[in-house]
Amino acid sequence: MTSSAEWKRRYSATFMNTFGVPSLALVRGEGVHVWDADGREYLDLLGGIAVNALGYAHPALTVAIEAQLQTIGHVSNFFTTPIQVTLGEKIAQIFKESGYSAPVRIFLANSGTEANEAAVKLTRLHKPGGRLLAFTHAFHGRTLGALSVTAKAVIREPFEPLPGNVEFVEPTVEALRQAFSDDVAGIFMEPIQGEAGVLPLDPAVMREARSLCDRFGALLVIDEVQTGIGRTGSWLASADTVKADVVTLAKALGGGFPISACVGVGAAGELFTPGSHGSTFGGNPLACAASAATLDQVGPLLGHVREVGEWLAGQLQDAGYAVRGKGLLRGVAVADAPVAVSALLDRGIIVNAPNPQTLRLAPPLTITDADLVPFIQAMRDLAPDQAMG
Ligand SMILES: Cc1ncc(COP(=O)(O)O)c(C=O)c1O
Repeated sequence: MTSSAEWKRRYSATFMNTFGVPSLALVRGEGVHVWDADGREYLDLLGGIAVNALGYAHPALTVAIEAQLQTIGHVSNFFTTPIQVTLGEKIAQIFKESGYSAPVRIFLANSGTEANEAAVKLTRLHKPGGRLLAFTHAFHGRTLGALSVTAKAVIREPFEPLPGNVEFVEPTVEALRQAFSDDVAGIFMEPIQGEAGVLPLDPAVMREARSLCDRFGALLVIDEVQTGIGRTGSWLASADTVKADVVTLAKALGGGFPISACVGVGAAGELFTPGSHGSTFGGNPLACAASAATLDQVGPLLGHVREVGEWLAGQLQDAGYAVRGKGLLRGVAVADAPVAVSALLDRGIIVNAPNPQTLRLAPPLTITDADLVPFIQAMRDLAPDQAMG
């Protein structure tokens, strides 16, 4: 059997160095566990970075994808398929259940950055030449349009000039009021900034953004790529606070199969016309089948996500840690996150460090309290060095 070390060596000799040397070479997954090429088992609390909503090898997902592949695979966007229409209607239903009264229209793509790319284009059509606003610490993706509304200097600056007319504002009511004017075409925001370190946005700031968008005729674009599809215990993390003009979804939408959606609400859903946007793979029947099966499973899990998420946060707080986030998207404040990540990995537990003082947890939504016990124990053991209260 080829060892993990050998897979990693061959990986490093073959791929561009975008991700560094991978920490594990994984060969198999089941439920909330994965196994590496040396046969070692891990508890996965990262879930492919908030993607694997149903965990690994969930039968609903594998059966749906296999059945679709045996029926009809890729067809292109010259044609539609029953599964594409079915998925579109399920997404529209999610918006209804989340309190959206206006009709929605959906553009399907393959990744979070592409969904945001479509959203950037919608703002251009909405108010040609207008300015875009985004928050400091925002992460919306790596393609040039999405990167233009992503704040972090080290990932933006090597690729400048980016599409212009973007201003980054602090996520405060005062900063928003100062930044808005008639020439603002739209504002991008994440209900919880996941990549920045699981930083929840103040609901008052979201509400102020909604009212300023109404006043100045701008689009409120809510990026639910990481927070949407049950991650925080509701379909959309933002929906109880505000209703957006555009919502982007990806990650958990396909339960591990690449698919994303840019959802336009009311008039924003009418901006694209034939020729204004497209994607060869967007709406691919396999992706739609994976997504439809995932959505069917996630609906009944929403209450479970809230309960397990609260229990998990409570256990970590009892162990002395400060915890941010909601449902099963949690940031745990630690003294030295890279050290904690590797200490946990040594104990067979996968998490990541979105910033040097935060551990991010985004496990499968199917995870139970019992699954989490080894992690809680490990965090108790690490508390003397890592907990900062
Ligand atoms: C909020 C948010 N938007 C967009 C993206 C980009 O998604 P993708 O990596 O699928 O392009 C991410 C990825 O982490 C994200 O967290």
